[in-house]
Amino acid sequence: MFYEDRVTEAWEEALAPLGTGWRKPYLETAPWLVVCFAEQYGVDEDGEKTKNYYVQESVGIACGFFITANHVGLATLPHTPAPMGFLRDLLGRPSNERPYILFPVGYPAADATVPDLERNEIVQWNR
Ligand SMILES: Cc1cc2nc3c(=O)[nH]c(=O)nc-3n(C[C@H](O)[C@H](O)[C@H](O)COP(=O)(O)O)c2cc1C
Repeated sequence: MFYEDRVTEAWEEALAPLGTGWRKPYLETAPWLVVCFAEQYGVDEDGEKTKNYYVQESVGIACGFFITANHVGLATLPHTPAPMGFLRDLLGRPSNERPYILFPVGYPAADATVPDLERNEIVQWNR
């Protein structure tokens, strides 16, 4: 759906050098698919909503740690199918949880190649 309907022209151009498309064979060969969910709000014993703070930031940091931990021997990458809500139903998760990132995890293929990308990393130190 993303590559057919949702992708913008600018996004399509940005993806072109990577040669990425709707086919994601690693999703079928990786031994593990780990889905991280963001708990957008809590639910107490009475069924009342409780506030969770800094959900986006916390889940993003946790995913970063997860990626780093995997890279000690294993390999992973972030995958965010669009739309992603079906994962909640498929995995029987409650409505206060939102699928955030899916991580295929396994050993890299012997012939795996990695694109040599230029990074947009900006660090500014002010004294
Ligand atoms: C938050 C995030 C979501 C991503 N989602 C997808 C995705 O849905 N499909 C995809 O082909 N690549 C996606 N990517 C790109 C790849 O997972 C991966 O980052 C890219 O191939 C470069 O690899 P590297 O980040 O390990 O250098 C995503 C990257 C990030 C950071």
